Amino acid sequence: MIRDADTADMQVCLGRLTLPNPIMVASGTFGYAREMEQIVDLSRLGGIVPKTITSQMRKGNIPWRTIETSSGLLNSIGLDNDGLDAFIENHLPYLVSLDAPVIVSIAGENQADYVGIANRLDACGGVAALELNISCPNVAHGVDFGSNPELCEQVVRDVRENCTLPVITKLTPNVTNIVELAAAAAAGGTDAVCLTNTLLGMAVDWRKQRPLLGNNVGGLSGPAIKPVSLRCVYQVAQAVDIPIVGVGGIANIDDCMEFFVAGASAIQIGTANYYDPTITMKILDELPAAIAELGTNKFANIPGTIKPN
Ligand SMILES: Cc1cc2nc3c(=O)[nH]c(=O)nc-3n(C[C@H](O)[C@H](O)[C@H](O)COP(=O)(O)O)c2cc1C
Repeated sequence: MIRDADTADMQVCLGRLTLPNPIMVASGTFGYAREMEQIVDLSRLGGIVPKTITSQMRKGNIPWRTIETSSGLLNSIGLDNDGLDAFIENHLPYLVSLDAPVIVSIAGENQADYVGIANRLDACGGVAALELNISCPNVAHGVDFGSNPELCEQVVRDVRENCTLPVITKLTPNVTNIVELAAAAAAGGTDAVCLTNTLLGMAVDWRKQRPLLGNNVGGLSGPAIKPVSLRCVYQVAQAVDIPIVGVGGIANIDDCMEFFVAGASAIQIGTANYYDPTITMKILDELPAAIAELGTNKFANIPGTIKPN
């Protein structure tokens, strides 16, 4: 096995957050990491983002909550989680004991709630950064902050000013102009933007004349959305001076390299973890050779090197 750290410089800076390498796992697709410890060498990951937490526990949406589609997965989990207190008690001690940076994904009911959760986590110690999920398509308030530039800027600024942790702002692709939202997050002081959350979709049982998901609509992920997320990364990289974390349909080393060249400084693997739980390890094995093909052994030389036609 090629150990990446031995052969190349994979370090990445996302504003105030430094990662040992650019390969992270995406929120909601890797549990709280403990579930994966028998399968994945967690210490090799560039970053771990556990399932989004909210201040109070949430039961999530009624079933069905996942449906397979052509090259994709539709989900309407609805931010099912045990709430902040339970996360701090049951999951955070394990997560911060790992060698990989832990980026805690949070979702608030409103601006004050985001700040409150951020403060609690800041005080816990050991958390590397926060990912602000302002883009969940499966909860009523989820996308307000992510689709309105003013609200986006305000919530980012409020968290940034009231918390010492680096902040990654995760945006939705379900907007007309992703650049506007990324610029707003940058103006609010985010350290990086994460592009993208899932694409709003639905599945129908025409014989029963009913939607298949309990929530009627849900978020599409997996290879089906890769061109959309890649386009978002490219457009933002061309227009806004902010580090980008790419996520959406990434399933192999070529997908990763496409995102890096298009402008991402790091990537997250989501749905692919479900059908190939060791995918991150394979990608980490293959990354040094892939960047060497572009004539460097320093990863930081790669992001945004695309030459637009
Ligand atoms: C079942 C499921 C649950 C998810 N839960 C969350 C979540 O809690 N918070 C979040 O920010 N994104 C969540 N996502 C979105 C992923 O983190 C990722 O942004 C999206 O799936 C696109 O990447 P992918 O195509 O590689 O899966 C979830 C995705 C799936 C498939």
